[in-house]
Amino acid sequence: MKFTRPRGTSDIFGERMERWREAELALSAYLRRCGYGEIRTPVFESTELFARTVGEATDIVTKEMYTFTDKKGRSLTLRPENTAPVMRAYIENGLHRAGGISRFYYAGPMFRYDRPQAGRYRQFHQIGAEAIGSPGPAIDAEIVDLALGLYRELGFPPLEVRLNSVGCPDCRPAYKAVLSEALASRSSELCGACAGRAAANPLRVFDCKECGPVKEKLPLITAYLCGACRSHFDVLQRMLEEMEIRFTLDPLLVRGLDYYTKTAFEIVHPELGAQNALCGGGRYDGLAEDCGGPRVPAVGFSAGMERLLETMPRPASGARTPAGTDVYCVVADEASAGAVLALARRLREAGSSVVVDLSGRSFKKQLGAASAHGARFAVIAGLAELAPGTAALKDLETGDQTVVTMAECAGRIAAAPRRGA
Ligand code: HAM
Repeated sequence: MKFTRPRGTSDIFGERMERWREAELALSAYLRRCGYGEIRTPVFESTELFARTVGEATDIVTKEMYTFTDKKGRSLTLRPENTAPVMRAYIENGLHRAGGISRFYYAGPMFRYDRPQAGRYRQFHQIGAEAIGSPGPAIDAEIVDLALGLYRELGFPPLEVRLNSVGCPDCRPAYKAVLSEALASRSSELCGACAGRAAANPLRVFDCKECGPVKEKLPLITAYLCGACRSHFDVLQRMLEEMEIRFTLDPLLVRGLDYYTKTAFEIVHPELGAQNALCGGGRYDGLAEDCGGPRVPAVGFSAGMERLLETMPRPASGARTPAGTDVYCVVADEASAGAVLALARRLREAGSSVVVDLSGRSFKKQLGAASAHGARFAVIAGLAELAPGTAALKDLETGDQTVVTMAECAGRIAAAPRRGA
């Protein structure tokens, strides 16, 4: 029997894994530098958490959740996103009692039962940040800047930010009523799915790829914003201009999750095609209450790792050493393996990265592998001409080779100048 991975998932290894790790480490370091501390939440949560917050009528909740019942009959769901779990954790751990702004970042897998295609997977990964506790537009500006900074950090060219305000519970109901009416009068122009959800969730029409021409003729949320939402949106735009952040106003941007209030934004990449959003986010002032907590305003974003890696510029040199190996140990005869493994342990304890070749293949092939790993040194043990307890130490940069005792070997390597020093 041959097993295959589930549709819409991937195995990540080799060069792609190295690029992934590099990007994730650089972005984590960047977010920490910006004052955001890491948070890790469970990969599954109660189904109700997502139904209540992401929205009963959204595609995510109606069609895309991986939901299962545990042995005690509880309904659990693999997280389709991480904003609701972070807010759940914030409230459950009483972090709101400290006051001020709590800044978190996270990185990890999310799960959505969506139709897989380029840039869209069933298990995908996000790196995201949430700033909880401030109602003002300045923190929205910080979040937009922070999101753009992820891509700056990795050498992307300047990217486009699309910005909108989706209103709040004071102004959105009136807008939804007007929109529902407009949709009812144009139901013959809508696709089947949109005609069906026009009454329950009229805003979703703006996410529909098939209803393009109708969208242009519909009333827009921006004309229905209440005073507070209008002024928040205006001040945010002024701040972004002051920060020299270029953005495009997109009144059709509504985002596929119901918890948003006021600010909504996306960062898009021209090379991504239909799934062109690298990153999405916005403000969600009602989410804390939806999670059973007090009223706490918040704003954040999540960036898709797969889409980021697909579009990430490659380093100019193109050369990379997969694991950054310092020392590659060639074991020409298995009888010397114990001594080599002991040496490898000493070298690792002293901070070197060491690979021991235990493949049993020819000495020549192992030495070839040492070069392929980009190792600085090869330690060659187990050749017939070597006295017991000795090894040949080869500097793969200069080609120099000397015979040394195993005990000397570690000292010689430690004394050599570090790569790039
Ligand atoms: P989202 O727009 O659903 O927002 O997802 C954010 C990003 O995750 C997308 O822009 C995309 O790059 C990536 N993504 C989403 N679905 C998939 C998929 N099926 N396959 C590959 N990549 C995908 C959220 O998840 C919100 N929690 C963002 C947020 C944080 N809002 C406030 N704070």
